[in-house]
Amino acid sequence: MTASASDPAQALVPRHVAIIMDGNGRWAKQRGRPRTFGHAEGVEALRRTVEAAGDLGVRYLTVFGFSTENWRRPVEEVNALFDLLRLYVARDLDKLVREGVRVRVIGERQGLQHDIAAIIEDAETRSVRNDKLNLTIAFNYGGQDEIVRAARKLAEEAIARRVAPKDIDPALFEARLDTVDLPPPDLLVRTSGESRLSNFMLWQSAYAELVFLDVLWPDFGRPALEEAIALYARRERRYGRSDA
Ligand code: IPE
Ligand code: IPE
Ligand code: MG
Repeated sequence: MTASASDPAQALVPRHVAIIMDGNGRWAKQRGRPRTFGHAEGVEALRRTVEAAGDLGVRYLTVFGFSTENWRRPVEEVNALFDLLRLYVARDLDKLVREGVRVRVIGERQGLQHDIAAIIEDAETRSVRNDKLNLTIAFNYGGQDEIVRAARKLAEEAIARRVAPKDIDPALFEARLDTVDLPPPDLLVRTSGESRLSNFMLWQSAYAELVFLDVLWPDFGRPALEEAIALYARRERRYGRSDA
C-alpha cells in the first residue's frame, strides 16, 4: 500500500523527526581542527535543520545534544558542549519564539549547573504558547535513565497508594516519561554512518523508521533532511499487522 498524506501514520512528511546529531569530532578532525570546532559548526547545522523542518511541515523535531554517557568525555569538551547550549539559547531563543517554535528540553535536570537549569526553564516558559514547530533538545538525556526515573516515580506513587500496581500499563508508564507531551518519533535519523541508538529514545522509538546517513552532522541541512524524509516516505509501516 502506498503512503497517503491523509493518514497521519502514513503521511509522506513525518510528524515527528528525531535526530542523533553525530560526527562533529570526525568533521573537525578531517580539517585538522579541535573537536570543539566541530561542535560549534554543529550548531549551524542545527539552525539550518530547524528552519528546514519548519518549512517542510514537520511538527516535532527532537535532537540529541548531550547524552548521559557523554560525561565520559574530557572535561574541556563537556564544558564546550554546555557553553554551546548556553550560546544557542542566548542567540536564537528570541527568533525561535517569534517564529512560533515551542522549545522543550528532555533529560535529567538534577545535577545540571544552576544557570543551565534556569536557561532551560526560561526557554520553555517563553515559548509555551507556541505550536508551529515543537523543538525538543535532549540534553543530559539517556533512554535508560529516563525509563528508570519513570519507574521510580511509579514506585513512589504505588507506595503512596496513588497508583495500584495492577493498573500499570504502557500508557500510564509513558505519562511519566520526559516526552509526556510528545507523539512518538516517526522518523529517527542518525548521521555519521554509525548504526546504533546510543541510548536515544529507547521507549519512544519502538515503531520509528530508522535512517542512517553517511553525512557528518556539521554538513547536515535541508538536502540531507529531505533525503531522510524521502527514504521515510518509501517505507511501509505495519505496527505488527500483516499489511499496512
Ligand atoms: C556528536 O558528535 C556530538 C555529541 C555527541 C555531543 P561527536 O562529538 O560524537 O563526533 P564523533 O562521533 O566523535 O565524530
Ligand atoms: C550520541 O552520540 C550522543 C549525541 C549525539 C548527543 P555519541 O557519539 O555519544 O555515541 P557513541 O558513543 O558513538 O555511541
Ligand atoms: Mg559520536
